[in-house]
Amino acid sequence: MQQDRIEWNRRYRQETFSARPAAIVRAHAHRAPVGMALDVACGNGRNACYLAFLGFAVDAVDIAAEGLNRFACRPRGIRRICADLDEFAVPQGRYSLIVNVRFLNRRILPDLEKGLAPGGMLIFENFLQTPARGTSRRHRPGHLLEPGELRRSFSTLDIVDYREHPDLQPETPPMKASLVALRPVAPSGPKA
Ligand SMILES: C[S@@+](CC[C@H](N)C(=O)[O-])C[C@H]1O[C@@H](n2cnc3c(N)ncnc32)[C@H](O)[C@@H]1O
Repeated sequence: MQQDRIEWNRRYRQETFSARPAAIVRAHAHRAPVGMALDVACGNGRNACYLAFLGFAVDAVDIAAEGLNRFACRPRGIRRICADLDEFAVPQGRYSLIVNVRFLNRRILPDLEKGLAPGGMLIFENFLQTPARGTSRRHRPGHLLEPGELRRSFSTLDIVDYREHPDLQPETPPMKASLVALRPVAPSGPKA
């Protein structure tokens, strides 16, 4: 969306974002089969850089060119794709790992599942709606998960870990949901 592009380009020009990969990525990515990875809304590439360090060939997609230009590492092994995820077509069955951290676009949730190769891993984390709190301009309800929504959205995957838990950082919603799941390996056909 054009407004998001403008807003995020401005933020990347004016603010400094952490280069440290998300804890959920550090905790789980090394268990995924090494191959191609997709970092959805990669920002400054803190997670994409970590995946490349682990040996993945990474497609890193974001709408904000200013973030892609301020990558947290030399983007070796990383294809930086400046694209709007409202329109981006996720290639089917390609990725052994898909990472989606601090971003929600409900349109692509089914595509993320289909984008996984059999045995591939999805790591997804985003903030949760919290009824007691008003929403800031940055954290509009449409950008926040409903309780249970993440688990329901990926119910056909084998869920390795799912939590709804407090987030202790200031200036963010107080709760987030985290999911780690695997695409089942297709059962082999009947033997003759
Ligand atoms: C909170 S940042 C998270 C960045 C990264 N995933 C991380 O964990 O550091 C949200 C990112 O979503 C990107 N974004 C927002 N709307 C987008 C859209 N429609 N298509 C692609 N990227 C988008 C922004 O440019 C920004 O980099």
